Amino acid sequence: MTTGRIDDLLSPELLSGTAAFVTGGGSGINLAIAHGLASVGADLMICGRTRSRLDAAADELSAHGGRVLTAVADVRDAEALTVAITTAVERFGRLDSVIAGAAGNFFAPAETISPNGFRTVIDIDLLGSFNTARAAFEHLRNSRGSILFLSAGQAYLPFANQSHVGAAKAGIDNLMANLAFEWGRFGIRANSIVPGPIRGTEGMRRLAQPTGEEVWTDAVPLGRLGEAAEVAAMAVVLSSPLASYVTGARVVVDGGLGLSGLGAISRAVAGPVSGTPGDDRRTAAR
Ligand code: COA
Repeated sequence: MTTGRIDDLLSPELLSGTAAFVTGGGSGINLAIAHGLASVGADLMICGRTRSRLDAAADELSAHGGRVLTAVADVRDAEALTVAITTAVERFGRLDSVIAGAAGNFFAPAETISPNGFRTVIDIDLLGSFNTARAAFEHLRNSRGSILFLSAGQAYLPFANQSHVGAAKAGIDNLMANLAFEWGRFGIRANSIVPGPIRGTEGMRRLAQPTGEEVWTDAVPLGRLGEAAEVAAMAVVLSSPLASYVTGARVVVDGGLGLSGLGAISRAVAGPVSGTPGDDRRTAAR
């Protein structure tokens, strides 16, 4: 058994009459999540930085039959996000599910990344997630809705050239837990998903570029890369009444990759990029 269509496996009415807001929803895993939500009846607003990408995504998403809105907004801009979310609520009359998925990433060794480069990823991933949650709070309180954050394995297992991303994603998981704790009294649930190596994503393209895909599939206990739809399926469940008693959870969707640690694969990725971690230490010890 591998993947299946979400609306074949779950009721296509699971989220009908509800509205969702997806940051970074114009591409990649976030777009797959938007498809998943729309396929079970949710109305959607997707936001992102690039108008053309959002328009193309909205065309695809409309095929599910629900209402689809777009907003050009950078998650670093709290005011722009507030305007986007307010518009969604005005148009849909409510907001039930938020996906805080927008992220920025690049490979850079900790010894050379500039403070501004480090801050840029913290700003997009962590501050952007907070901005999203903060702007959505009032509306989620009204609907007793849920917010789902996109974390990453780097949040709990160090990975070469990803210190900035690990710090940002660890912050997101901590923010998620605090919001679950603080906002539980308003009926708001907060969870995060940790996607593993997902086929066809920008992140995977970059990760596999120095090593080839086999290194990754060999390291995954299930023996294959994941599909974006498999992350989306979990996102739909966590955003739905099926998970009505689930909050504060970090749900790992990685085929088991994180179980054995990522040291070898991290070194394989690092080699051509910045030298193998440990090389300097070994040289110094000689
Ligand atoms: N290596 C090292 N530093 C980098 C970098 C890289 N590959 N890319 C950006 N930076 C640094 C810049 O040098 C700059 O710091 P400086 O002012 O000290 O030089 C800082 O980050 C901001 O760069 P800028 O290009 O102005 O940021 P931005 O806000 O326009 O875009 C990203 C930031 C992360 C979105 C951009 O790098 C990007 O487009 N990444 C690819 C898309 C992506 O991340 N997709 C998500 C995959 S999970």
